Amino acid sequence: MKILILGAGGREHTLAWKLAQSSEIDALYAAPGNAGTASIATNIPIGVNDFEAIKQAVIAHAISMVIVGPEDPLVNGIHDFFLKDAALKNIPVIGPQKAAAELEGSKEFAKKFMIRHQIPTAAYQSFTAENLEEGYAFLEGLTPPYVLKADGLAAGKGVLILNDIEEAKKELQQMLVAAKFGTASATVVIEEFLKGIELSCFVLTDGENYKLLPTAKDYKRIGEGDTGLNTGGMGAISPVPFADEVFMTKIHDRIVKPTVEGLQKDNLPYKGFIFIGLIKVNEDPFVIEYNVRLGDPETEVVIPRIQNDLVSVFKAIANQSLDTVELKIDPRTATTVMAVSGGYPEAYEKGKEISGLNTIKDAVVFHAGTKPENEKILTNGGRVLAVTAFGSNFKDALEQSYKNIEQLHFDGMYYRKDLGFDL
Ligand code: AMP
Ligand code: GLY
Repeated sequence: MKILILGAGGREHTLAWKLAQSSEIDALYAAPGNAGTASIATNIPIGVNDFEAIKQAVIAHAISMVIVGPEDPLVNGIHDFFLKDAALKNIPVIGPQKAAAELEGSKEFAKKFMIRHQIPTAAYQSFTAENLEEGYAFLEGLTPPYVLKADGLAAGKGVLILNDIEEAKKELQQMLVAAKFGTASATVVIEEFLKGIELSCFVLTDGENYKLLPTAKDYKRIGEGDTGLNTGGMGAISPVPFADEVFMTKIHDRIVKPTVEGLQKDNLPYKGFIFIGLIKVNEDPFVIEYNVRLGDPETEVVIPRIQNDLVSVFKAIANQSLDTVELKIDPRTATTVMAVSGGYPEAYEKGKEISGLNTIKDAVVFHAGTKPENEKILTNGGRVLAVTAFGSNFKDALEQSYKNIEQLHFDGMYYRKDLGFDL
């Protein structure tokens, strides 16, 4: 089987690494990929939103399945594009159709979905420029901190949490009237602030059947002790130690099951991963957000714990027989620590040579922002490398991740040394 993975991050390298272990793989492609995917697959230099170029590549290489890494192409309707094209319609795409991808593409859509299916989430109201004054009044009725969310995709930057009412009003005005996040903030969801510890739950569905994948927790802030700016994620741990059986049953019964059933009731075709961002308030789970893809760096700890042949699992999604698959999960804990470019998440330099990759023995290094050049591997993004290791608990696993990341080097390299501090 010939499989194409769309994307260029640590998530996509991890998927490629796992798929490459399957005896069913004849050829693996990544578009556009990075230096990590280039070592086990063929990189094709096309963008994830260039559907015509993707079509040409799929035909040229006789690709028989496409795995979509990031959300953009899903929200832009890549799955629908395949279904509508005579030459592509029988090639399975792992990722939901456009209508279902709105769960990530529109926060308001996601909130309405949760209310309709009685899935626990923060109370909210949404506003546009026409009812800005009502938005101010709604803010005044809340207790701080105030949570403002741009409705559309804003590259992970569209959520603001503010302590001061005047600042919250100013930001609301900036988002709605001054288009702070472009058209993404033409509608703003204002919601109740929930206090608790966050975790993520991953679900794989074929639209009818579903499987729960391992839980994970990521560390979003750049600084130790969860301080400083938000990043794409500085590291992750799976499983989440506080997600015990009682709590997981609540997540399943109150959130996962009604989500998959809700997709069916609403006629939202979904074959792919659902990433549910959760918060534990006292002993109860609430949904913070849905993503219609795997998380990054959560993938770097979730996928290595799955012991099944991933090609078989994806085939079962394609032909809607996921009920026949029995998932085998490695009981050990996996951790990943992200090495980032100096300055990230603000301005940073690219093109720094990476050394030490060949000395890593007790961990797997997944590439995020890297590119091959001649015989060298250079940095090519903010998040550069994710070092994944296993252990009998998260402390042991982290010790391995840290021991190995110390062998790696590039100019300006930074990583957080305190992952797991809150557990
Ligand atoms: P999102 O892009 O929806 O994941 O939001 C980004 C981050 O904002 C989340 O990971 C949470 O840390 C925080 N957040 C979002 N919504 C809420 C909420 N209602 N209460 C508290 N924190 C929130
Ligand atoms: N690590 C968070 C995300 O992938 O959205």
